[in-house]
Amino acid sequence: MNLHAIILAAGKGSRMKSELPKVLHTLAGKPMLHHVVATTQMLKADGIHIVIGHGAEKVKLSLADQEINWATQEQQLGTGHAVMQAMPEIPEDATVLILYGDVPLIHAETLSDLLSEVSNNSIALLTAVMDNPHGYGRVIRNAEDKVTEIVEQKDANPEQLAVNEVNTGIVAARAADLNNWLPRLSSENAQKEYYLTDIIAMAIGDGKEVKVRHAASLEEVQGVNDRLQLSLLERFYQRQAAETLLSEGVMIYDPARFDVRGTLTVGQDVEIDINCIFEGQVSLGDGVKIGPNCVIKNTQLGKGTEVKANSSIEDSVVAQNAVIGPYARLRPGTNLADNTKIGNFVETKKALIGKGSKVNHLSYIGDADIGENVNIGAGTITCNYDGVNKYMTQLGDGVFVGSNSSLVAPVKLGKGATVGAGSVITKDVPEQHLAVGRGRQKNVDGWQKPKKNEA
Ligand code: UD1
Ligand code: CA
Repeated sequence: MNLHAIILAAGKGSRMKSELPKVLHTLAGKPMLHHVVATTQMLKADGIHIVIGHGAEKVKLSLADQEINWATQEQQLGTGHAVMQAMPEIPEDATVLILYGDVPLIHAETLSDLLSEVSNNSIALLTAVMDNPHGYGRVIRNAEDKVTEIVEQKDANPEQLAVNEVNTGIVAARAADLNNWLPRLSSENAQKEYYLTDIIAMAIGDGKEVKVRHAASLEEVQGVNDRLQLSLLERFYQRQAAETLLSEGVMIYDPARFDVRGTLTVGQDVEIDINCIFEGQVSLGDGVKIGPNCVIKNTQLGKGTEVKANSSIEDSVVAQNAVIGPYARLRPGTNLADNTKIGNFVETKKALIGKGSKVNHLSYIGDADIGENVNIGAGTITCNYDGVNKYMTQLGDGVFVGSNSSLVAPVKLGKGATVGAGSVITKDVPEQHLAVGRGRQKNVDGWQKPKKNEA
């Protein structure tokens, strides 16, 4: 099948009350429109056409890396008019699927099912049954239960308004048929718009059959008009993501307090406490435990690693059985080997930390290459930046750095070196040496405490 998808995204979305075009508001960390584009890619569409109007430049820019045919609709004269703007780029023998940039959760399976109903003699319509159909176009059927037309809310009579089968807006037809019907649309209706929905009656008039499929859930066809609707769809999405992971054996302590904004890959017996956010590509090995309130982005955590409460990890790679946090911050380029420990209020950045090494408290380790079984005392920092350039700190295996030391880079500490607490290390330290870089302590005998001045 030569499949071309048209995604309508020209509307303003005034009810979002936002500078950002509606379709760029995110769901699960990704613009709504990008969800729809990804779905059309799953369907292997031969062409993706997006109709833009309001905020056109921003919308285009957001998908600059994708192969998209852009069609501009200067004035929003209706859904039928919007579809017409994309038709000139679509081959006559194509099957056209019409989607919406603000209906982000539509499933590829629902669509391929719908597409299987399109032929030269039929058009396929996706409908849904709603308790409260207010606002939607109603699907009108005849005595034989065959669809005859769609009537918009504002054009419907009381009998039609009582119908609770609604048009989701998603429809598929042959391009040749659309090219026949669309130019014949009229705007003589309550909204003075060119309604796409009027093609249904035209199809019947041409002797075609209207094949109907129902949406699998109301959420998958739910359009977003305001932020409340977006937040409800977000929760629906996250709930489903959590339930899928639970069914795959991940212990998510509370599926209502779990967020994934990207792809989370998991091993066996993974545990995730409440209020965690996973962004981008995250993978968790077997037995990984994540404490509450952690934010983890584009990171791999190896088997048996534990992340304790309130930690933030980004663009990092962690091997097996590491212990991170509570309150740790691993910034991009952190690479932890097996059995490492990064404790509370420790910040790392571009840091390679070897097997069994520990940075347990209140430290900053940046631009550093740290060997195995190194112990870095509380309050140690790498002074990696002179205000202009950044430099490396290198620590050999078995180095011991006493608390509250400053390692002024570039600097190298040889294997087994020890640094006395409170040192400022500005010179390389040879293997096995002790380095002390601080003022000597002096104890003053007979010292008199100051007396309070008379008023
Ligand atoms: C439309 C359907 C209605 C259906 C409902 C489902 C028509 C005439 N009506 O109504 O039967 O129940 O969707 O949500 O099709 N758009 C453009 N350019 C335009 C007009 C709209 O790009 O000129 C885009 C909008 O940005 C929006 C979508 O098309 O994403 C739907 O438009 P909207 O005006 O909201 O249609 P509804 O009145 O909701
Ligand atoms: Ca709408």
